[in-house]
Amino acid sequence: MDKPGAGLFITLEGGDGSGKSTQSALLTEWLTDAGHTVLVTREPGGTPLGEELREIVLHRRGDIAPRAEALIYAADRAHHIATKVRPALERGEIVVQDRYLDSSVAYQGAGRVLDGTEIRNLSLWATENLLPDLTILLDLPEDDGRDRLAERTKYDRLEAEAADFHARVRAAYLGLAEAEPGRFLVLDARQPREVIAAAVRERVGSLL
Ligand code: TMP
Repeated sequence: MDKPGAGLFITLEGGDGSGKSTQSALLTEWLTDAGHTVLVTREPGGTPLGEELREIVLHRRGDIAPRAEALIYAADRAHHIATKVRPALERGEIVVQDRYLDSSVAYQGAGRVLDGTEIRNLSLWATENLLPDLTILLDLPEDDGRDRLAERTKYDRLEAEAADFHARVRAAYLGLAEAEPGRFLVLDARQPREVIAAAVRERVGSLL
């Protein structure tokens, strides 16, 4: 089972603090104003089970073994896609999703130093091979991401990782975008948010 129906599946990716939620909101507003039905969702989370898994994987005290962490993200994804995203795509809706399988390849693959191909295949198995039509990568140099996060007082388990972890995540994202230029739109996250939003609209508009 690959991609269902006539819907459009758009994912946003990037490091922590790269502005994904802002761009997701701006894109959703634009699409909704144009009369489209949009499902806005996220991983981890997006379903009641997903929110429980999110709490575990981001905030549980104590270690989670890297492969267990990868499986929790994959379990969240399997349930989310099967119960929420695929049905929306089958109804012909546009899905705007904060993070998807590229997050797992970047964070669990490169960040936790697991095999990126195995991590990608795990997600493809979990989702019955669902790939996005478009993935917007908001690329942010590591130092800028840390600066944006510095204002926060509480970090989740992944955000709390050291700088070299986040440098690997960023490099992996850029490698993924290079490998699939047709699926990815890479934007410099340091640009003003309206400039980024306009570039996103232009690309999404070409897919409608
Ligand atoms: P966020 O919702 O604030 O982006 O936080 C989610 C965190 O989970 C973020 O640090 C990235 C991480 N993550 C993974 O490590 N693997 C995944 O597959 C996903 C979806 C997120």
